[in-house]
Amino acid sequence: MKDKVVIITGASQGLGRELAIKLGKLGVKIALVARNEKMLSEVKKEINDNGGVAEVFVCDVTDVDAINSTVSKIVDTFKTVDVLVNNAGIWTNDKLEEKDKKLVEKTFMVNSVAPINFYKAVSPIFEKNKKGHFVFINSIAGFEIKENKDYAVYIASKWALTGFTNALKSKYDGTDIKITSIHPGPIDSKIDKNAGDDWGSDKSWMMSVKEVADAVIYALNAPGKIQVETLTFKKTNWNN
Ligand SMILES: NC(=O)c1ccc[n+]([C@@H]2O[C@H](COP(=O)([O-])OP(=O)(O)OC[C@H]3O[C@@H](n4cnc5c(N)ncnc54)[C@H](OP(=O)(O)O)[C@@H]3O)[C@@H](O)[C@H]2O)c1
Repeated sequence: MKDKVVIITGASQGLGRELAIKLGKLGVKIALVARNEKMLSEVKKEINDNGGVAEVFVCDVTDVDAINSTVSKIVDTFKTVDVLVNNAGIWTNDKLEEKDKKLVEKTFMVNSVAPINFYKAVSPIFEKNKKGHFVFINSIAGFEIKENKDYAVYIASKWALTGFTNALKSKYDGTDIKITSIHPGPIDSKIDKNAGDDWGSDKSWMMSVKEVADAVIYALNAPGKIQVETLTFKKTNWNN
């Protein structure tokens, strides 16, 4: 991974932040993308303090023009892109959607449409280079659901992403453009609080951002023509 250029969306906190810091220590050049400039700058500082390279790119991923100009700025800065980690995402459930009537559309914009628009902005670079790696941070909710849930829209937004990702896998079959779909179970982040929800103080059923970031790095490190296609994992004491 050393000297590779990696875009991470949603790098201001949670899994994206942890992944950026870990990759920074491995000598990866990181484009940090999210809306909160202050938090992104703190991530950049932590990476720089550890001897790594990172730059901040403020972007609301629901804005396709902002995505296109952000990718142009990243290429101006780093000259190329080797990996796109589509990680930005938001949580929703029935109760939250009752309070915010635009939340269904917003959830699909961030969780499903934004990764597609980032893919569209980056794919010409990968196709010109004849190599690259698209990583989609999905969820176990976009892989397997065993019973009715009160978060059907979140599930649907992640299944939309699963469908898109699976279509890409066949599109790039036989090439050196890799596609990886990551499906973690619950992670101890602020995704609930950021959505105005609260999953409670018991975190024993959640994975840490460090554990999940290590799983993403495992997929990124797959050598040569090896492609980690789908990774699904969760705590043994959480039953979905
Ligand atoms: N937490 C879990 O239990 C869990 C489980 C499975 C999968 N996942 C998935 O893992 C990914 C990361 O989740 P997390 O738990 O790390 O969540 P988080 O801590 O809430 O972080 C979400 C990130 O997404 C960014 N983001 C949200 N809306 C955005 C927008 N409109 N434009 C740009 N960036 C935006 C946020 O940055 P700004 O606010 O600065 O824009 C933040 O950096 C998501 O795709 C999530 O669905 C999470």
